[in-house]
Amino acid sequence: MTANRRSRGERQPRPCFIYREGPKQCALGPSVATINLEMVMNDTANSVSEALATRRSVRGFLDKPVDGALLRDLLEKAARAPSGGNLQPWHLHVVGGERMKALKALAWERVAARPGGEDTEYDVYPKNLVAPYRDRRFQVGEDMYGLLGIPRESKAARLQWFARNFQFFGAPVALFCYVDRRMGPPQWSDLGMYLQSLMLLLREAGLHSCPQECWSLYPRTIAEFVGAPNEQMLFTGMAIGYEDPDEPVNQLRSRRAPLDEIAHFHGL
Ligand SMILES: Cc1cc2nc3c(=O)[nH]c(=O)nc-3n(C[C@H](O)[C@H](O)[C@H](O)COP(=O)(O)O)c2cc1C
Repeated sequence: MTANRRSRGERQPRPCFIYREGPKQCALGPSVATINLEMVMNDTANSVSEALATRRSVRGFLDKPVDGALLRDLLEKAARAPSGGNLQPWHLHVVGGERMKALKALAWERVAARPGGEDTEYDVYPKNLVAPYRDRRFQVGEDMYGLLGIPRESKAARLQWFARNFQFFGAPVALFCYVDRRMGPPQWSDLGMYLQSLMLLLREAGLHSCPQECWSLYPRTIAEFVGAPNEQMLFTGMAIGYEDPDEPVNQLRSRRAPLDEIAHFHGL
């Protein structure tokens, strides 16, 4: 039944969690803190809070196309994101349909030929990641591979699973975000504002996403495919589509540091 539903690309109404009045312990296990939740029978976000609460990195998508006109609309709306000096330093490429099939085939070849990547244009993480960042990275990996039942010792199985990144976890649409090489950290942070705006708009439209920095390992392949000029650097890819609710990894709810660890209030 699952296979039929997947191949037809249909989605059944199913519960999703959103913020609502009244504290309740989330039933999804220890990776989710006590938050205010209510179950609703739809998968679209109706407020910024809902979009934020339901946005997460989805790593299993249905084989269901996404309307190109809808994507154009969302990309345009996301451009209301702020940027220092209104530079709007984001350069975007969206790939779908037959081009997406071609891209997945190309990625399959390139990743098989060079599993370690073809280039690194920037460090995805600092070279010596220290606490607490290292611990958080470790934890999310443990939570994810725990859900998948892949133990730490099974390096090959973990790598094999990671390679699903390069098929966009089955998503029908890919987005690539580039930045002019002459830009600095402030403009890179502007890219994040654009991308988060887009991911929240995707939630409002019933869509999900997974940002994918792993594509920075294959900058030449992607530049060649989308025709990006040399003066631009690939920051990240993003898988976009409708969530496959039967994919176990999509149960992952990543943890967050408590507010007192990240914020200090002065005079409030
Ligand atoms: C810029 C960026 C790049 C990311 N790259 C990847 C990636 O290559 N592969 C992946 O599976 N997840 C990737 N992620 C997802 C993060 O692991 C995820 O955002 C984090 O664990 C928090 O989980 P959540 O997005 O579900 O809230 C990326 C996230 C961001 C913001």
